[in-house]
Amino acid sequence: MKIHVVDHPMIQHKLTLMRNKNTSTRTFRELVNEVAMLLGYEVTRDLELDKLTIETPLETMDAPVIKGKKLCFVSILRAGNGLLDGLLRLLPSARVGHVGLYRDPKSLQAVEYYYKVPVDIGDRLTIVVDPMLATANSAIAAVQRLKEGGARNMKFVCLLAAPEGVEAFNKAHPDVPLFTAAVDRQLNDHGYILPGLGDAGDRIYGTK
Ligand code: PRP
Ligand code: URA
Repeated sequence: MKIHVVDHPMIQHKLTLMRNKNTSTRTFRELVNEVAMLLGYEVTRDLELDKLTIETPLETMDAPVIKGKKLCFVSILRAGNGLLDGLLRLLPSARVGHVGLYRDPKSLQAVEYYYKVPVDIGDRLTIVVDPMLATANSAIAAVQRLKEGGARNMKFVCLLAAPEGVEAFNKAHPDVPLFTAAVDRQLNDHGYILPGLGDAGDRIYGTK
């Protein structure tokens, strides 16, 4: 199973603050940004490097620079935008795509309402972001849609995953490694992660 649980103490501490129902919208949003940056270090750890000849004030050197085309983040709307903001602070030149999906509350199936990604996405490392991997229906549909749109080299980043979602995602897309800050206990009857942090979109944007 290709899953990376990024359990750095700073991430775990911030996640606890996010889980707390008394945390304000403003603080929750700031924390999503901060955790996204920390997850970003881990998900980009194996980026390939090239050498660039530069002049330091003292001498010439062949210095490391990231190889190849700028990578592409794809945010699954709308909660994915919370993670996207933090990741763009880390990699401000990245390209960005958006896949609009919402989860039908009865069937829990993902319904697409928007799709726009860079035309050359197939040439770029594509990092798909959404804070929650619950049933994984949204993530599976988004990655499938991106594959149909030409994406070839993908990673998926979330904050919290349910074991059911991890299994389903790995089965559907064994070629796409999964990065998460934690794997929680289980899903409830409405497809919410337990103990979880509630509805990520509502908590980021204060809509409930
Ligand atoms: C949430 C979350 C994921 C999805 C996860 O989005 O951001 O996209 O649910 O659930 P799943 O793994 O069972 O598919 P939601 O549908 O609430 O939409 P929103 O981001 O617009 O709030
Ligand atoms: N979507 C969320 O935002 N939270 C959950 O726990 C499950 C799906």
